[in-house]
Amino acid sequence: RIAYVNGRYLAHSAAAVHIEDRGYQFSDGVYEMCEIARGYIIDMKRHLDRLNRSLSELSIEWPVTRSALIVVMREVVRRNGVRNGLVYLQVTRGVAPRDHAFPKPGTRSSLVVTAKRIAPSATAKKAETGLKIITVPENRWDRVDIKSVSLLPNVLAKQQAREAGAQEAWFIDAEGTVKEGASSNAWIVTQDGALVTRPADHGILRGITRTTLFDVAAKLGMKIEERAFSVAEAKAAREVFISSATTIAIPVVDIDGETVANGHPGSITLSLREAFFDIAE
Ligand code: PDD
Repeated sequence: RIAYVNGRYLAHSAAAVHIEDRGYQFSDGVYEMCEIARGYIIDMKRHLDRLNRSLSELSIEWPVTRSALIVVMREVVRRNGVRNGLVYLQVTRGVAPRDHAFPKPGTRSSLVVTAKRIAPSATAKKAETGLKIITVPENRWDRVDIKSVSLLPNVLAKQQAREAGAQEAWFIDAEGTVKEGASSNAWIVTQDGALVTRPADHGILRGITRTTLFDVAAKLGMKIEERAFSVAEAKAAREVFISSATTIAIPVVDIDGETVANGHPGSITLSLREAFFDIAE
């Protein structure tokens, strides 16, 4: 495998950043994860627009131009021979002597790009089985709309899920409504077939897959309600699912040990999932 690090294509096993990279010392950086299907990077424009927003919210400079980044991403995908999988990019505020405040002007931000193959059959299998979810209290800061590499609460929540035999954890706010997963957005399908997902205000990350699923749902003539929903409502829903670049749309069949949606992946989720691959660019 090959990775890109600050201007160089290196063997993945030997690729490294400096010990005083601010990503390493302060989690002072942002990232994007894009799906690759049939050799194409899905929703690249939307991912780069979100990257631009994350960078500008944190006053981190682009490490290279947008068009150069596209070239690098495609090259990493090509060099790794990925037809189906993921491409990951990370930008940090760069390398500088440790000091919490920003380094001196002119410090170059760091860029790392990696890609990996994932067999389409592996995710398809997960979609056929469905996922188990646990709920955890929201304990993150209020700027989770920025796709920052500062992910400790997400790491701890995901580990808690794994130890409970589940695959994802949902952050629940003080009102008992579902925010989002540790690495995905949360959705339900109401008994009358409407899709419900939380508005993408500062409380959650505006998932690119979430946005594209809005387009897919519109094409399929499905109704969307952008509003908060409670855990109780999710447990009583017709279907429940999560979305992300890594999963697209995967049904949820269990929440906190209680069977939801009769324990079977829902047909609406599966049709959304199928249509996504026809519509996404
Ligand atoms: N995570 N919410 C959170 C907290 C996420 O980390 C992610 C994605 C999403 C979904 O966003 P998108 O549809 O753009 O992937 C929502 C990536 C996949 C990750 O951390 O690996």
